[in-house]
Parts: sequence; C-alpha cells; structure tokens
Amino acid sequence: MSALLQATDLRRRFGGLMAVCDVSIEVRRGEIMGLIGPNGAGKTTFFNLLTGMTRADSGTVVFDGHDVTRAKPEAIARLGLARTFQNIRLFGGLTLMDNVRVAGRVQARHGLLSGLCFTPGSRREDEAVTERAYDLLRLVGLEDRADHLAASLPYGDRRRLEIARALALTPKLLLLDEPAAGLNPSEKLGLADFIRDIKERFDLTVLLIEHNVPMVMGLCDRVMVLNFGQTIAVGAPEDVQRDPGVIEAYLGGDAHGAA
Ligand SMILES: Nc1ncnc2c1ncn2[C@@H]1O[C@H](COP(=O)(O)OP(=O)(O)O)[C@@H](O)[C@H]1O
Ligand SMILES: [Mg+2]
Repeated sequence: MSALLQATDLRRRFGGLMAVCDVSIEVRRGEIMGLIGPNGAGKTTFFNLLTGMTRADSGTVVFDGHDVTRAKPEAIARLGLARTFQNIRLFGGLTLMDNVRVAGRVQARHGLLSGLCFTPGSRREDEAVTERAYDLLRLVGLEDRADHLAASLPYGDRRRLEIARALALTPKLLLLDEPAAGLNPSEKLGLADFIRDIKERFDLTVLLIEHNVPMVMGLCDRVMVLNFGQTIAVGAPEDVQRDPGVIEAYLGGDAHGAA
C-alpha cells in the first residue's frame, strides 16, 4: 500500500508550549488509521496542520503527491482531504441541504461564484450538486429534514450532517476528529459500522481521532499514539495496546483524561 498522506517532522509551538513536536505520519491508501492520546496531546493541532488550518513552524505535508505544506485549507480540501471538527462547525442558519450543497459547490468545477450566474453548465452542475447532497443526507439518515435549519438538530444528528458535508467534497482522505463525542450509546455503537460502510462505498482512506479506545482498536488497521506533542507508538492495534509507554500515558503520570 502506498502513502496517500505523508507528513514529516511537523512542528507547531503556541507561545511556550510545544503542541506538536516533530511528528511524522504515513497514511496508506485504503486504511483506517487511528490517532489517540490524552487530552492536550496535540491531536487536533496535528489535524489543523495537515489541513492547512494552522501553519506549521517546520515540517512538510505531502498529500496524494502534492506538497500542501503551505497550501490554503480550501485548496487542500479540493485535492480530496476533508475533515470534521471536534467542536462541530456547521452553518446553523442554513438548511441541512444547503450545508451539504455548499461543500459540493467547493468541489464542483464551476466553483461557488458561478452558481450565481445562470449559465447552462452551472445549472446542470447545480442540479448534480443538489442531487448528490440529497443522496448524502439519505445516507446519514437526515433526508426527511433536508429543509430544516442545521441549528435545530440534536447533537448526534449534527455530527452526521458534518460527515455528509465532508463527503460532499468527494474526499480521498477523511479526517474525523472525535466523531463519537457527544453521541448517545446507541449512536456510538452504530458509528464504527457506519465508518466502515462509507469507507467501502466511497473508496476512502480514514484517519480518525477517537476517545473510545475499544472502538479504535476494533476499527483501525493501524494506530498512532501522541503524548505531549510527540509520537510514542505506531503500529497494529494489538501491539500499541500492549506498549508500556502507551499504558503509562493512559494510566500513569498525572492521570490526565484519556482521549
Ligand atoms: N490556538 C491555540 N493557541 C494556544 N494553545 C493552543 C491552541 N490550540 C491548541 N493549543 C494547546 O495545544 C495543546 C494541544 O491541544 P490539542 O491539539 O487541542 O490537543 P488534543 O486534541 O490532543 O486534546 C493544548 O495544550 C492546547 O491548550
Ligand atoms: Mg482535540
């Protein structure tokens, strides 16, 4: 399996705090990789570095053969790297349909602005974006509420809408930042199957930050563990789980919450 994403020695400092210290990762095409580590380990910052939302102090990111180290988030998204957020980010004042359509338009050939000028090409594209948005809403079970405002949704449904929106970008790589956070127990149970299902259906590669260690161990082909901004283990779930440094990070020390 070849690398779809290759980040090398990424570093990011916030004032005196080294949030991410020379972290490298190779995500192989077609795998589900997990990223775990205690709260504050630098996982979300690492995602922000990969997606161009935070500028790296040093290091490089190559995605699907493109050096995207200094690329803008929208350009990276257009290359096929989509994400969801630990703190859900939706357009609360837009309908579910429009939340997904906006992402579809980012990807569409004619772009966002041409949607305002009614050329035949853009109208056909607009119809295709709408149709696909509806399919994605159906996939996450929200099609009945396509015309509701995103702000009206309960928490678990917002998470699903966020995933639908990420899929509208037709990503090759999907980054999920704590997708189970705030879900109720039955929603959590369905999440691993859902991730497997969308991975197969859309031929995705997945990198996921997750709180729930049994879920990560059951779902992921490989797992990487961060602690205090540094990688302390990478490998098969069963090996990582037995790693003394990982056990120490989760159970020892100052008992900061596992995430
Ligand atoms: N924009 C920021 N400014 C200052 N400190 C930040 C910022 N973002 C994250 N941090 C700090 O960086 C560290 C890593 O945070 P984060 O990446 O959110 O960790 P995790 O997702 O693993 O819980 C934390 O100590 C956090 O407070
Ligand atoms: Mg985080």
